Amino acid sequence: MNDPALQALWLPLESGRIELPAGASGVLLNARAPLPSRWHALACVQSFRPDHDALLRVGANVRPADEDLVAGSRPLVMLLVPRARAWSRALLARAATLCAADGQVVACAANDEGAKSMEADFMRLFGSGTVLSKHKCRVVWASPQTVDYALMEEWLRAAEPRQRGDGLWTQAGVFSADAVDPASALLMRHLPADLSGSVADFGAGTGVLSRHVVRHCQQVRRVDLYEADHRALQLARRNLDDANADAQLHWHDIATGVQERFDVVVMNPPFHLTGKRGIPELGQRFIDVAADALQARGQLWMVANAHLPYEEVLARRFARVDAVAKHAGFKVLHAAEPRR
Ligand SMILES: C[S@@+](CC[C@H](N)C(=O)[O-])C[C@H]1O[C@@H](n2cnc3c(N)ncnc32)[C@H](O)[C@@H]1O
Repeated sequence: MNDPALQALWLPLESGRIELPAGASGVLLNARAPLPSRWHALACVQSFRPDHDALLRVGANVRPADEDLVAGSRPLVMLLVPRARAWSRALLARAATLCAADGQVVACAANDEGAKSMEADFMRLFGSGTVLSKHKCRVVWASPQTVDYALMEEWLRAAEPRQRGDGLWTQAGVFSADAVDPASALLMRHLPADLSGSVADFGAGTGVLSRHVVRHCQQVRRVDLYEADHRALQLARRNLDDANADAQLHWHDIATGVQERFDVVVMNPPFHLTGKRGIPELGQRFIDVAADALQARGQLWMVANAHLPYEEVLARRFARVDAVAKHAGFKVLHAAEPRR
């Protein structure tokens, strides 16, 4: 298992430093596979579809959101703390909310993913905590008895959905939460207004590209948004409802392919999975899936960081490929006539 934070998270329990009543039903927020099999009864929450499905495959009890979990009900609430600060604070606050008064909250982050800030936030919220450093991670745990309720409410409120100045609904922790991503903005500047038919948006995020398409391309009949982040997709629903569009939303891992066929695919594909690991293979997989999903005369419009190696797979999967623009470290690419 190459997930040090997940390994470190179990240490206080496995070493007996936290005692649990027999049969205690815990929660794991931002859960990831693999779980040791004796922890399969934990209620896992994971909003990112590939991680969610990996948990399903190992037999875990997993859901995309935690709304059905009752406040104050759980003797153990564990969490793998994400890097985005406002979102990580909201998860700490959510853990405090879910935990029974005599229970324990256990949080873990890798040192290179904000462990120091996580520890500081944990201490502020819970008043104190026990810290363990292992596997280049920090694990912190405490009972919620001395939690700062005002701070807890403040951190929960700060991560609620909100409407930005540009009219888009957003939320802490989703892609490009505070402003339109500059690469997506560049793609929107180059998308032609005469796109028509059915359009798919791969890795749609909060629906920025789809909203642009339905607003500016009069001949587009419908858009299908495919996005792995369940939270982003809830925001995309609001953003497309506001635009009064015929939109279908799919909580979906593009790497597994898509069944439907489209006239156009637009995308700003991901190339990072976690932390600093650059993974162009995921973007390349998006291109392959786009080629498979397009009608014979279909076209792909995409934007990417200029250094990412996408041209080879584009040339293999499309008869025509054009470099449309290059600006500020990004490139806009257009490909047509997919090869089967
Ligand atoms: C670079 S962002 C672009 C988001 C949005 N299109 C925009 O322009 O703001 C890439 C998006 O792909 C999503 N994503 C990552 N892996 C995915 C996968 N395997 N399947 C579907 N979407 C994925 C991310 O959650 C993120 O929202």
